Amino acid sequence: MTATKGLEGIVATTSSISSIFDGVLTYRGYDIDDLAEHASFEEVAYLLWFGKLPNAQELQSLQQDLSNYAAIPDKLIQQIKLYPQDANTMAALRSAVSALALYDEAADDMSREANEKKAVQLQAQLPTIIAAIARVRQGKEPVAPKAGASIAENFLYMLRGEQPDETSIKALDQALVLHADHELNASTFASRVTVATLSDIYSGVTSAIGALKGPLHGGANEAVMKMLNEVGTLDKAEAYIQEKLDNREKIMGFGHRVYKNGDPRAKHLQKMSRELGKMKGDTTLYDMSVLIEETVTGQKGLKPNVDFYSASVYTQLGIEHELFTPIFAISRVSGWTAHILEQYDGNRIIRPRAEYTGLTDQKYVPVELR
Ligand code: ACO
Repeated sequence: MTATKGLEGIVATTSSISSIFDGVLTYRGYDIDDLAEHASFEEVAYLLWFGKLPNAQELQSLQQDLSNYAAIPDKLIQQIKLYPQDANTMAALRSAVSALALYDEAADDMSREANEKKAVQLQAQLPTIIAAIARVRQGKEPVAPKAGASIAENFLYMLRGEQPDETSIKALDQALVLHADHELNASTFASRVTVATLSDIYSGVTSAIGALKGPLHGGANEAVMKMLNEVGTLDKAEAYIQEKLDNREKIMGFGHRVYKNGDPRAKHLQKMSRELGKMKGDTTLYDMSVLIEETVTGQKGLKPNVDFYSASVYTQLGIEHELFTPIFAISRVSGWTAHILEQYDGNRIIRPRAEYTGLTDQKYVPVELR
């Protein structure tokens, strides 16, 4: 038995949800470029869960359900108010989603119908939880969800406490489409491993949030913004990156296990970052990002991944960097729950082997003789 570090190249499951072939990402056979250009996030979530794009009536019915389920229990809001003010937002989200299960009488109902409903509920409630965490941290009261609003509109509304502008809604909606699913990424794999024991959907999503938090996965978008803040001005960008590369440090937002010739999602976020900068009349963040990309790609051949330009996009939307990875979760919970539903269908426990590299032939020595 020989282990492959990081399971690189290992095909661990079959899936009909999303695929990456020759650098092209598709959801249920639809090219991500096509969806990013034309589809709303709600259409994409429906596509991931149910395998087809919704017709007008199916879409309306999903929007209605998302709207109906968006509120979170008062007791959960009370809990969120007890979290330390400086708590990591992803840690707070992980705790809140885990606690959400306590208020759902159907949490352990393993029927397909109940789990589909919980997928839609989780999709509806994650934005509400994150907006509540953000507002409570600022000493403000959470804002109740707005009936009839899309996920993107509602999230910005609950965060800001006022109606967001159309440009922000459109940009966030497109970012959500781009982050919705990504084959067997680390957090999705974590969710599938958890529910393959026939544990519940909340446990699967809680595991996934824990995996997404790390800076080698979703946490990279926050780390990118910290880097841009440290760089500060355009004239310092090249030297800053050069020093990091000379020290063999990783540059956040670059590289990918599967894409070696570039992440197909990055170009959409780059375009969005440029357009938002132009609209604001200040392209500093975009220009700095481009220079960093030129330096990293020029020196190491590494291309930006989905996290790199999303940092400048979210900042230009006025969103604080602690919310970048939680926003990733707002989108990816659609993919996680689609994979969880797929895992339950014809489930088998996921239990691989380890190549043993430890000591052998040890003999027990009584504690007083050690
Ligand atoms: N900056 C500098 N060097 C890098 C980077 C980077 N961002 N990424 C990879 N490398 C180098 C590694 O140091 C290594 O070099 P070596 O062979 O000389 O030691 C080589 O490229 C291979 O890198 P690995 O880390 O082995 O690649 P792996 O496939 O295991 O990891 C990962 C992929 C985690 C994405 C990695 O590229 C990385 O850490 N990137 C930065 C974090 C990041 O942006 N994560 C988000 C990924 S996208 C997502 O999850 C949403």
